[in-house]
Amino acid sequence: MGPCAKTSPLVQFFGRRSSRSILAAAEPTRREVIPLTDHPPAAAPRPLASRMAQRLTGTAKVPGDKSISHRSLMLGALAVGETEIHGLLEGEDVLRSAAAMRQLGGEAERGADGIWRARGRGIGGLREASDVLDLGNAGTGTRLLMGLVAAYDFVSFFTGDASLRSRPMARVAEPLTRMGARIVARAGGRPPLAVIGTAQPMPITYKLPVASAQVKSAILLAALNTPGITTVIEPEPTRDHTELMLKGFGATLTVEQTKEGRAVSLTGQPEILGRKIVVPGDPSSAAFPLAAALIVPGSDILLPNIGLNPHRIGLVETLLEMGADITIENRREEAGEPVGDLRVRHGALRGVTVPPERAPSMIDEYPILAVIAAFAEGETRMLGLAELRVKESDRLATMAQGLAACGIDVTEGADSLAVRGGKMPAGGVRIPVRLDHRIGMSFLVLGMAAKNLVEIDDAGAIDTSFPGFVDLMNGLGAGITAPSDR
Ligand code: S3P
Repeated sequence: MGPCAKTSPLVQFFGRRSSRSILAAAEPTRREVIPLTDHPPAAAPRPLASRMAQRLTGTAKVPGDKSISHRSLMLGALAVGETEIHGLLEGEDVLRSAAAMRQLGGEAERGADGIWRARGRGIGGLREASDVLDLGNAGTGTRLLMGLVAAYDFVSFFTGDASLRSRPMARVAEPLTRMGARIVARAGGRPPLAVIGTAQPMPITYKLPVASAQVKSAILLAALNTPGITTVIEPEPTRDHTELMLKGFGATLTVEQTKEGRAVSLTGQPEILGRKIVVPGDPSSAAFPLAAALIVPGSDILLPNIGLNPHRIGLVETLLEMGADITIENRREEAGEPVGDLRVRHGALRGVTVPPERAPSMIDEYPILAVIAAFAEGETRMLGLAELRVKESDRLATMAQGLAACGIDVTEGADSLAVRGGKMPAGGVRIPVRLDHRIGMSFLVLGMAAKNLVEIDDAGAIDTSFPGFVDLMNGLGAGITAPSDR
């Protein structure tokens, strides 16, 4: 580990133990998670019903990448000069990041031309927010911002919706504490929480105990306002948007393959300059129309301009192994990220085993893969899924229960899911989505190829990552309506 002038409160509390054992103690186990029903959603629930579709055809433009959008606003509102952001995802999660950056003294506004413009005062130029930063449903926004503010001599308060308030933040608090910040949170490191930033941040060398791009990014963002070189080592590579974008903004960052893993080193306190960013379509959002086309007979759709970062395309790799008819056309690079157009046609699929090492490159895609697996001949086994238990909902349990309710043969393991498919699912149920956008979209897609309607209890969360989802899917030929309209 790097220099550590004083013993951090977390280390004082837990004693000198490995990061992994501290996290095991600090992060909630599945049983400890407070049921979301304790916290009714702020807005009235919006149920939706999805009925069997005939065939899906046409071209669907999916919204911008959520990961890149959060980072664009954060780095743009730090950089000197103007950052033009084309294709920003205008979903609730990202809009919360924009609001938080404004509260911290940055600028981020949408122009009448649809282009977002961010403007900052340079690294070190943020100021204390005069109110709580409410990140809504956004775990990425919260974790990245916790890092960003940790190396400033002020205090930031974070909260969010019931889902966010059940999510473990100790994984971020632990390395930030080593850098000199203090974090005061509810049990298990859950929000509401306060980050007491430090005037004298210390660079660290930190080996990630969980494969998490959010934790890696929180440390790198804290390192921006920290003198010296901060190194994050990731035993399993995760999405590298933060690294690519920091380089693009002019920071000095190196990546080295070491015995312990991929080591990313950032030299602190660079001058980063505004630039143009073109946000590609989000492969994690594209996964929903793509899945729908694979399971609805006769479908043939085109998804243009989808991000194809190698750390994000584990789902496409898996689906090709399952025999899916997906072709990538017009491969190109835009603003440092590989992109291409996906052509997807319906066809027969077969079950496969998805190895645990693939999980980081498709971590958000397991709910929709589980739906696709219900239409594949034989068994699909998904392994190494412990992280799914601490996403917007416990996705392993939510998917297993929902699929079983739809009449699908599924087994939930401690960190695995097995789906035996090939028969048309019965459907005819209403699924609780537990404030989880990807659960909501997954079951609406399932309804497109099930015998009976599949309903979800609340579509509200879908706007966090995929505004316009229902119109886009119905434009391709789906039948998603309010349950009363049927
Ligand atoms: C994200 C990283 C992933 C992913 C999340 C977005 C990011 O989380 O699930 O939706 O933008 O860095 P973890 O890195 O915690 O697995």
